[in-house]
Amino acid sequence: MQFFLDSAHVKEIAYAIDAFNIDGVTTNPRHIQASGKPFMAVIREIAKLVEGTSKTVSVEVNPHFMTYEEMLPEAEKLAAISPNFVIKLQCVEPAFKVIEALAKKDIRVNCTLIFSAMQALQAMRSGAYYISPFIGWKETNGEEIRSFIEDIVTIRDNYDFDSQIIVAAVRNARQVVDSAVAAADIVTAGLAVYQEGFQHP
Ligand code: E4P
Repeated sequence: MQFFLDSAHVKEIAYAIDAFNIDGVTTNPRHIQASGKPFMAVIREIAKLVEGTSKTVSVEVNPHFMTYEEMLPEAEKLAAISPNFVIKLQCVEPAFKVIEALAKKDIRVNCTLIFSAMQALQAMRSGAYYISPFIGWKETNGEEIRSFIEDIVTIRDNYDFDSQIIVAAVRNARQVVDSAVAAADIVTAGLAVYQEGFQHP
């Protein structure tokens, strides 16, 4: 299983690469804002950190963009900045056509904000490179998350989809382990989740 860091904090990312060799990075608009730097500056800095490696960095298209015409050129522009970039698109209906168009151009997409197996299935059908089911919010809402992940893994395997499953919005070590038991490919979590999880209780 791969561990991604969910952050846009450059020092934190450099630390996690050095300390426990994280496999990739996921950013989102909230993380970019928390970094205190302009969007383009921070994504270029993160790109430098992973240059020459196979580590991917998920970079999100403006979440206010809700049409094919808005999403596609922005996705292409971001993808051209670094070969490590995977373009994050929210799992909304207009995104599916964009994912297909990008896949045809070999631009990888992380279809994010997935809250149901049906959404995951459609993202995989569209050709998403990564799909990101969000589990933290569901568990807070009283839902059971291991079977949610297992369903998505089973659907992927039943139909031989190529998408890799990133379990996202992970809040603690038990959720990381649940994801591993459910055979997810990747988890993405903040630095504190890893550091607390690595400690001997
Ligand atoms: C993943 O790609 C997301 O950036 C992340 O997991 C969002 O989690 P949140 O619920 O902490 O915002």
